[in-house]
Amino acid sequence: METKGKVDVLLGLQWGDEGKGKVVDVLTPNYDVVARFQGGPNAGHTLEFEGQKYVLRSIPSGIFQGGKINIIGNGVVLAPDLFMAEAQDLEKSGHPLTERLYISRKAHLIMPTHRLLDRAYEAAKGKAKVGTTGKGIGPTYTDKISRNGLRVGDILENFKEKYEVHKQRHLDMLKALGWTDFEGLEAAEAKWMEGVAYMRLFRFVDSEHEINDVLRSGKSILCEGAQGTMLDVDFGSYPFVTSSNTVCAGACTGLGIGPNKIGNVYGIMKAYCTRVGSGPFPTELFDETGKTLRDLGHEYGAVTGRERRCGWIDLVQLRYSVMVNGVTQLIMMKSDVLDSFETIKACVAYRLPNGEETTKLPYEIDNVTPVYKEFKGWKTDMTGFTSEEQFPEAFCAYVKFLEEFLETPIKVISIGPDRAQTIVRK
Ligand code: GDP
Ligand code: IMO
Ligand code: MG
Repeated sequence: METKGKVDVLLGLQWGDEGKGKVVDVLTPNYDVVARFQGGPNAGHTLEFEGQKYVLRSIPSGIFQGGKINIIGNGVVLAPDLFMAEAQDLEKSGHPLTERLYISRKAHLIMPTHRLLDRAYEAAKGKAKVGTTGKGIGPTYTDKISRNGLRVGDILENFKEKYEVHKQRHLDMLKALGWTDFEGLEAAEAKWMEGVAYMRLFRFVDSEHEINDVLRSGKSILCEGAQGTMLDVDFGSYPFVTSSNTVCAGACTGLGIGPNKIGNVYGIMKAYCTRVGSGPFPTELFDETGKTLRDLGHEYGAVTGRERRCGWIDLVQLRYSVMVNGVTQLIMMKSDVLDSFETIKACVAYRLPNGEETTKLPYEIDNVTPVYKEFKGWKTDMTGFTSEEQFPEAFCAYVKFLEEFLETPIKVISIGPDRAQTIVRK
């Protein structure tokens, strides 16, 4: 596939945790630059290779392959203390970053008081809470959109004064919300300021100039999305979403690139489906099968350790995600988790409360009943396979059906968490 002079975008098609980090790492050798375009430390991307396991949150997943330049774009929200901890861990494990990780001056900073606001808003919602990661994502993006944000570029001038103004505003808001728990705030602020000083070791850039210069010189860029399409603030299962545009258009606004520069759009999906936090999930399984998926897939959140809710693959939802992102090729993850199943189901339509069936994702998805098609399980351990020729017939039939239903080719199939357990199809 031609990647020069273009920006390829890789993003999640479900509710996050599809395995984006693994695929970015696998694809990085084909690119000159890897850039994150939205989200923040709410993301948790686990990568495994050479017997080691790494979890990335704010740092792009292209940092392990051959000294490539990685960029944190303007669309990202960054918590200096968490960024420092993540970067220092990587440095300790032999992956120095300061020379090859650039940070956009326009990225917004998550303050300790944003995290308190996140908790306060969740508490105020009571039963209707979103089940956020508690990282201050919503309040930080809210400040950005309401033109009250603090940006990376602010670090360089009169920072303490600016910080105090924003902190005071947050404290007033917390007071109005009736929030009284400020335990640990001072210690968190001290760590945070240490993180701010640490960030100055990195090169601050304008990602829009950086990226377009790279493109003009004929080089290639892979844009890494966080979360997933169903968590997009516009197209996801609102209000149970994150606060950024996780869809392909987010790469344009989150890095500063024109839509005509977008090349391939890689849509990442699991062979089944998961979700963390609250909100509708039509194919969720509450039975033994759901538990089996969770056990076999190790479906526990990397950021919060929460159990992920598990269910069958939802092709109505995926068809919608393919559409809004303009996905050009699909990448299917965790097919190995289904290796031992007798039968496998895929949701091919929703039955609406009025009895009608639809394959178009409706406005509300909390009152639909999934209509399933059943497939024979392949009952083969595929985790050691090295080429698609080895795939059993029943698995090929499942893949073919998905490709036809989603009208998009599945180019890569992941058969285990390790970098090496990846089959690129011809
Ligand atoms: P991301 O947030 O989209 O990067 O995904 P996460 O890292 O949060 O979740 C995916 C999890 O599945 C991680 O623990 C990966 O190591 C793991 N994983 C990725 N691909 C595969 C696969 O093909 N098979 C299995 N069994 N695990 C995988
Ligand atoms: P990656 O990049 C899965 C979910 C949270 C919550 C909602 C809002 O690893 O795929 P937020 O803290 O963003 O305000 O929470 O979004 N969520 C994720 N779920 N994977 C993620 O990231 C997520 N990031 C946020 O659980 O329901
Ligand atoms: Mg994740």
